[in-house]
Amino acid sequence: MNERDTLKINKQNHLEIGGVDCVFLAKKYGTPLYVYDKAYIENVCDAYQKTLNVEYGLGKISFASKSFCCKDILRTIKSKDLGVDVVSIGELKTALAVNFSPENIIFHGNNKSYKDLEFAIQNKVGLIVVDAYSELDDVNEIANRIGVIQNLLIRVNPGVEAHTHHYIQTANPDSKFGFSIGIEAINVIKKALDLKGLSLKGLHCHIGSQIFEEKSFEIATEKMIDFYALINNQLGVDFDILDLGGGFGIYYYDGDKKMNLSSYQNFIKKITTTLKNKIEQVKIKKPYLILEPGRSIVGEAGITLYTAGRIKEIKDLKNYIAIDGGMFENPRFALYQAKYSVVAAERMNNPATKTYTIAGKCCESGDIIAENVSLPEIKEGEILAVLSTGAYNYSMASNYNRNLVPAVVMVKDGLDYLAVKGQTYEDLLKNDL
Ligand code: LLP
Repeated sequence: MNERDTLKINKQNHLEIGGVDCVFLAKKYGTPLYVYDKAYIENVCDAYQKTLNVEYGLGKISFASKSFCCKDILRTIKSKDLGVDVVSIGELKTALAVNFSPENIIFHGNNKSYKDLEFAIQNKVGLIVVDAYSELDDVNEIANRIGVIQNLLIRVNPGVEAHTHHYIQTANPDSKFGFSIGIEAINVIKKALDLKGLSLKGLHCHIGSQIFEEKSFEIATEKMIDFYALINNQLGVDFDILDLGGGFGIYYYDGDKKMNLSSYQNFIKKITTTLKNKIEQVKIKKPYLILEPGRSIVGEAGITLYTAGRIKEIKDLKNYIAIDGGMFENPRFALYQAKYSVVAAERMNNPATKTYTIAGKCCESGDIIAENVSLPEIKEGEILAVLSTGAYNYSMASNYNRNLVPAVVMVKDGLDYLAVKGQTYEDLLKNDL
């Protein structure tokens, strides 16, 4: 466990988050339950934005809301004066619902429809990140019709393929996202510069997610600035903005690097130092820098509480604990073989004596939350916690097997409140005709 002031073991030998006992939370709200440490989120936001201000002086952190999107988190993000990036009308409407300033909203997506773009432009989103050639015509037509000039970025693929624990540079990137840096990107930039309804402010890239190697970000930064210099030489354009996306890694289990505020500040420092040096070297105008972390703001802030259900011991093979959740509220093992730390929230310091696989309740063998976790002998009915579930769990939840998406609770300074109600069976059936 990556312990901190707001995630620790209390005197009762229970897991405590944000000053609140997890066993108390499980009893009060029921399980499964998503719980978020609000102070952690606020601290990471502050650390990111302050470091960017101090180290570079010109830019904004824009929270990638796909990692966790609901009104409450966007209120917090707004209160920290961060921007937000959205990838759908649903995320955009959530931001607008908490009166997020539209100019601080960035709209992404590789297949935004005409209607999506129309809604975004009508609602005055600050930047649209274009990721398709024909999207430019749609934005131009809508902007001309409404009588506005829409600010844009174009998403490029710098050919830096970043994986957890290593990075490689690819000569022929085959991603569905972005225009390859080079002639493909130059053509779309030229087209954008010709259209009257839009103003091209710069380029965007995002090299991947759950990345620990600073080097990957440094290479991407250098490639982008080299490309800015090339565009400047060839087309005489000085871009105002550079958006380098998100992707900073978080601690899930003991195979990951333990992250803390200074590790995240370090990411920003490495990027801004590379950026400043490169700008100096190629002599281009200093662009406004946007970074779009999602996972690292909310991931370690969140935990999920479960009640242990049926326990199945298959002699000499496997011990299963079935929990009252599963892939419907955390599909990350099923999708990415993701690894998590699991703790016995009611007896944190008891020695681990058994190895368990934590299985969900869905009718599918792949419905696993974590494999080979060491725990004390678990009894039915006791509370378990899976850590670092704050990113891409709630946001990827589904109703598979007609299970209900759990509630979201926020904790801070010993107080808890409901941020999102758990779904009810009425919610589930209300659209069925
Ligand atoms: N910006 C763009 C354009 C992105 O595509 C993403 C993530 C981010 C920012 C935020 O990246 P982060 O800081 O969260 O790594 N469902 C997967 C993660 C998909 C990430 C997609 N894009 C998971 O559960 O691991």
